[in-house]
Formats: sequence, structure tokens, C-alpha cells
Amino acid sequence: MASQVLVAANRGPLSYDLSAEGTLSARRGGGGLVSGLSAALARQPEALWICAALSEADREAVRRGVAEPGVRMLDIDPTVYDDAYNGIANSVLWFTHHHLYDIPREPVFDARFRRQWESYTAYNQAFAEALAEEAAEGARVLVQDYHLALVPGALRELRPDLRIAHFTHTPWASPEFLGMLPDDVRSRLVWGMLGADVVGFHTWAWAHSFMGGAHLDDERGIAAPRFPAGEEPSRARSIEKSPSGPVRHKRTDVAVYALGVDAEDLRSLAHRPEVDEKLAALRAEVAGRRTIARVDRTELSKNILRGLHAYRELLTTHPEWRGEVVHLASAYPSRQDLKVYRDYTAAVAQLAEEINAEFGTADWQPVLVSVVDDFARSLAVYRMADVALVNPVRDGMNLVAKEIPVVSEAGCALVLSTGAGAYEELREHALTVNPYDVTATAEALHAALSMPAAERADRTKRLAAAATTLPPAAWFEAQLDALS
Ligand code: G6P
Repeated sequence: MASQVLVAANRGPLSYDLSAEGTLSARRGGGGLVSGLSAALARQPEALWICAALSEADREAVRRGVAEPGVRMLDIDPTVYDDAYNGIANSVLWFTHHHLYDIPREPVFDARFRRQWESYTAYNQAFAEALAEEAAEGARVLVQDYHLALVPGALRELRPDLRIAHFTHTPWASPEFLGMLPDDVRSRLVWGMLGADVVGFHTWAWAHSFMGGAHLDDERGIAAPRFPAGEEPSRARSIEKSPSGPVRHKRTDVAVYALGVDAEDLRSLAHRPEVDEKLAALRAEVAGRRTIARVDRTELSKNILRGLHAYRELLTTHPEWRGEVVHLASAYPSRQDLKVYRDYTAAVAQLAEEINAEFGTADWQPVLVSVVDDFARSLAVYRMADVALVNPVRDGMNLVAKEIPVVSEAGCALVLSTGAGAYEELREHALTVNPYDVTATAEALHAALSMPAAERADRTKRLAAAATTLPPAAWFEAQLDALS
């Protein structure tokens, strides 16, 4: 039966593992996209989620027809998929949007890049065709993230009747970074995005970057809106396209939907017996000391290394904290097909070991690194942490910054980077830091640890209120409404 509401994302709600005996088991993937969309779609039973098979085990699940209801997994040729996901989405677009390039060496747009770009185009086309096949007349389609930037344009050519939105969970590159892409590639990306009726971002900072970048494409008949200098737009702006442009429809609205968390859902998840057990074990391990917590995918943009450097500096310049604090660093593996991620993961482990060797004593281990993606354990950490460290260099939103205050028991002081999307909503109640400034981060950690309990609890309440303004279901519905 054709669907009225469709979502397209590279990652589906679950991915599979295949045991040596041939048994498939499902697990939830990491990252903000899956948490936000899963929570939103729990209230949209009729919606269809189209995603890619990410691994051989997922492909086997497609062949055995075991995918859960409401999900269609696309079995894309593994080489095409690898080029599109690892080659373009994660190595080029992720690096561009997060400004992660080591500029003297990267990026390099060569023949290999061109082959990968062809694959990215084919992979986007496969999504557009699947959506075109599954969508009812006039259906609403919500396309997610940088993996699928070409889908709105391609889908509009196949099905002009559909109403299409695109949402970006990451930052959008500044015009300078976007301008590093080869002209035709950049132009194609903007063309793809502007196939949507609405393009959405977590914050105005990223929406502005997008509009600045769209401006680069004047030669294709696409013009960015112009605001009077210095004016902060507070509502959706539109991009008008001249009829001679490559996109047939004339207008794309640019809007901001700042994804928040659902307090009730999260608190009930955080009070399951499984979480209580992990909390008791963690409390025993920490033995009454103060805790500084972080929870991330081991991801270059999360700035885990500078976080550890700041903790080392804290123990050096404020020796009174030695033996009194434990840094609980959950850094679970991500994108391990890419060497740069494997190297980063190893560097995090090594730096943590160095800190433990330098300061540790017979009864105190300064850093406890956890590399298991264990949501129950993360929730236990959220409940007990005294200080949360969220210091990404650039991050679309960062839901961890919003989740912690919601489940914190006695209050948790938040040290928050100016580079996180969440900064826009949470800055007033957090201790904010320039993510590159290790000394300032160490001082913010000291201030956070020293904050009187009543102030911590009070700030946490205000953080939780700001974090729950637009919970996933409302975030999703607002985007559907914008297409009505
Ligand atoms: C970010 C992206 C998501 C992605 C997630 C996890 O949150 O915006 O699109 O799913 O990271 O990354 P992965 O590559 O494992 O899907």
C-alpha cells in the first residue's frame, strides 16, 4: 500500500549482526538521527522509513525479509554503497560541514573522488526511485541528512506531485568550506537540496550558512535571500529560484527545527532496572568521588582529545582535585572503516592511558574510558554525573547536552562548546567554552566542579526546560505541517 508519510535516511532504526551460526540479531545504531527519528516515528505508525543496508548482515536481513514493519531497507551494490557512504558522505561532506580538513593535505578532488561522486549520485538516485515507488499521490516525504542531499531534486523530477522536506542533522559548511568543492559538485548539491519545498536545520547558524552557500549558485539561476546587514532572521526565509533555473518549482523555504528531547520518555528509560543496576556498579567504582562525564561516538568533531588535555590541565593546575574526581569518558567506536577514525580512536585510548599513568594511584584511576555503545550505561552516567563535558568543535545539535540535564538526579553543571548547535538554546545556563581553548576548558571544569549544589540544581532545571521545548514528536510534526 502506498504511504502518505515517508522518511528517507541512510541509517535505519536498527541494524543487524550475523553470528557465525547464521543467526541475525538487531541493535539500535548510535547518533542523534536515529534517536530523534525513532522517538518521533513511534507516534507515526503509518509512516514508512526507507534506509540503506549498511553491512553484509543487513543485506542478509533484506534477503531473509526480516526487516521490521514500517521499514524498507535498500540493498545497494556494496561497492557503490562504500563509495557513497565512506567515500563521499563521511570523508567529504562530513569533513566539509564540520570544517575538519587538515588543510595542507586535504581535500584532494581527483579521479578517485570522481568515481565516488558517481556512486553517491547513483545511491541518491536509488533512494529517489524507492521513494517514488512507495509514495501515495501528494504524499509528504522527509529526507534526512548529507547522505541524501541529491534526493529532493531527483525525487521532484520523478514525482512532481510530492511534498518534500530535507532536514540536515549536521552543521552546514560555511560558504568558504563549501566553496572548496569542485564547482559542478557544489552546484549539484545545492540543486539537490533546493528540490525540497522546505530545508530544515537545527539552528539559525547552520541555516544562514546554507543560504550563504546557495548564493554561490547564482549562475544557475538560484539566488539566496538577502537580509539587511546584521539582521537576525527569526522565522523561515525563502529562496526564490528563477524559472530558467534547473529546478522547476520556484521556492524553497529555509526553516529551523531545533530537535529537543522528550522528558517523560527519557526519564522512564533512565529508571529501568537495567539502568539502576549499572548505576549501582558505577557508584561503587567511583567510590564517592566527583564525576565529569562525556558520552560520544568516537568522532573527530566531538573534540575528545582536547577534552582529555583539558582534564590533564585541570589535574595539573588544580592539584586539589587529584584523587577527588573521576572522568567517565564513553567514547564508543564509530565509522571504523575509515583509517582516520581508527587512528583517532587509538589516540583517545592512548591519551587516557597517559593520564592514568601520570596521575593514577593504587586506589584512584583518573579516567575510565568505556568503548561499548551501551545506552543503559550512558543513562546511568547521566543520572550521577556532577559535570558534563560537551566540547565539540562543530556539531549539528548534540543531544547529549540536552539529555543529561533531563535525567540528572542531583543536578549536573554543563560545560558546553560554542560550536555545538545546542549552544544556541542552552548557553545561558551552561559554562560555555571555545572548543580549541584547552586552558579555558580546564578552568570551566574547575568552576563546574566547584559550583555550589543549589546553583547546579537550579541551572540543571533551566537546562532541562530549554532542552525539552521541541521533543521529537513535535519536531517531526512541525515539519509535516510545513508541508501541508
Ligand atoms: C550523525 C549524523 C547521522 C548519523 C550519525 C551516526 O548524527 O547526522 O546521520 O547516522 O551521526 O553516524 P553513522 O555514520 O554511524 O550513521
